[in-house]
Amino acid sequence: MTEELHTDRPHPARVYDYLLGGEVNFPADREAAHQGMRGNPDSRIPPRQNRLFLHRAVRFLAGQGIDQFLDIGTGIPSAPHVHHVAQEINPAARVVYVDNDPIVLAHARPLLTGQTQYIEADLRELDVSTLSDVLDLNRPVGLLLIAVLHFVGDKDEPAAIVERLLAALPSGSYLALSHLTGDYRPEAWEHVTEIYRRQGVTMQVRSHERISRFFSGLSLVEPGLRILPDWRPELGEPGGEPVPSEAQVSVYGGVARKL
Ligand SMILES: C[S@@+](CC[C@H](N)C(=O)[O-])C[C@H]1O[C@@H](n2cnc3c(N)ncnc32)[C@H](O)[C@@H]1O
Repeated sequence: MTEELHTDRPHPARVYDYLLGGEVNFPADREAAHQGMRGNPDSRIPPRQNRLFLHRAVRFLAGQGIDQFLDIGTGIPSAPHVHHVAQEINPAARVVYVDNDPIVLAHARPLLTGQTQYIEADLRELDVSTLSDVLDLNRPVGLLLIAVLHFVGDKDEPAAIVERLLAALPSGSYLALSHLTGDYRPEAWEHVTEIYRRQGVTMQVRSHERISRFFSGLSLVEPGLRILPDWRPELGEPGGEPVPSEAQVSVYGGVARKL
């Protein structure tokens, strides 16, 4: 089920775009972002750190020989995109981008090159086995679930969704995942999730223990599930940025290999 383009209510992709300094957002999105910032003045830090983690994770996967990526919950384009980062390491790398927000589709043009595809789909319903025309499902794939599963409530059984997505991929594939947590500032994140809830949008932060379960049955690569800046900082862009505190970041990330 894809989403309607309700510009009168905040939408996660557009609020995230606003927090990253993008321009694809509406007054309702900016208002929600500002309400969130009143409860958590560091609201711009998680999106920024999340993008940096995404880049490091893709560099890691490309370095392991992964040359095809399935990026689900792509978001409004924010350069560098996954294909830019992967193709710096392997110019032949291919990416399939997936999102269920029509506004992402409307802005997908920068994501489309000869080696990339965009598919509008909901990860709760996506059948990866139908992607065999755009991905070679006999060879390892890098599955990216970056800052998307906290928009899937428990009633939709996100762990079962991850298991189902991975089941269609061969052994040697990888999962890279990041997810918001309330472990450090539970009240601030309750405030943010309440803003979304009032607008009918599901957002659910989860504990380290709960997020670890998404990696069940996989081999977690070092250093495991960590607060984002602690995950392989050596793979980051040169020059770097000041490293925020764990509480300011409040997003865990990790990468695991399918055995
Ligand atoms: C916070 S953005 C993350 C964007 C990007 N992955 C990143 O890390 O920069 C979350 C994205 O997930 C998408 N999303 C949320 N629920 C989804 C679902 N059920 N199926 C597909 N995409 C979804 C939203 O539309 C939004 O674009």
